[in-house]
Amino acid sequence: MAIRGVILAGGKGTRMGELTKVTNKHLLPVGPWPMVYHPLKKLTGAGIQEVLLVSGTEHMGDFVELLGSGTAHGCRLTYRVQDEAGGIAQALGLAEHFCMGSRSVVLLGDNIFRDPLVPLLEKATNRPDWAWIGLKQVPDPGRYGVAELSGEQVIGIEEKPEHPKSDLAVVGVYIYPPDVFSLIKTLKPSRRGELEITDVNNYYLKQGRMGYSTLDGYWTDAGTLDSLDLANELVRKDPPRF
Ligand code: G1P
Repeated sequence: MAIRGVILAGGKGTRMGELTKVTNKHLLPVGPWPMVYHPLKKLTGAGIQEVLLVSGTEHMGDFVELLGSGTAHGCRLTYRVQDEAGGIAQALGLAEHFCMGSRSVVLLGDNIFRDPLVPLLEKATNRPDWAWIGLKQVPDPGRYGVAELSGEQVIGIEEKPEHPKSDLAVVGVYIYPPDVFSLIKTLKPSRRGELEITDVNNYYLKQGRMGYSTLDGYWTDAGTLDSLDLANELVRKDPPRF
């Protein structure tokens, strides 16, 4: 089955203070590059050449100016405008036509991690109708989607729980089968008014169609001032592998 890459690079960056007053979070530097290069290089490094970038109206022009057709990065880029931020699953829903009949590898544009994508993709190869997620042990799981494991099995995922059932964060790396788009159409907004990617993942979990890989190297989001600092430090000390 064909594979297509999706980078979600929307949002208002409200947690970044003055840094995102005139630009998009994903254009801020992480190591030697703008943040969005990181997910793009992960995808192209794994041989994925068809990539869709989703972002809001405000800074789409800057992404196009920065990345162009994708030729310089060894891929073909398509851009899709998200008129209003409505959550990760809503943004992914915009990739429906782009991903038609293919598996989608979805990266949150602000997730910075060391591991290349290839091992996760290889693990997922034999089960094309499953969803695959990445997990990483973190000190502050309450900030993320948190997976509960029983033995080797994920048995539940909670979004930003007050009392996390484990310290395993669901990272912003997802592989979905083609039916993810019909599922997204059935989702209802959560309490924070968003279509939650955690609801998507729990659907596959309940169906027994969910696998996971644990990341070996570092992982962080870079969506707050502190985590942006951390991402820069990690990338400088030990550049990510693509
Ligand atoms: C989102 C997801 C969450 C995931 C996190 C990874 O959180 O909702 O499940 O663990 O990305 O960065 P948000 O960035 O919306 O806080």
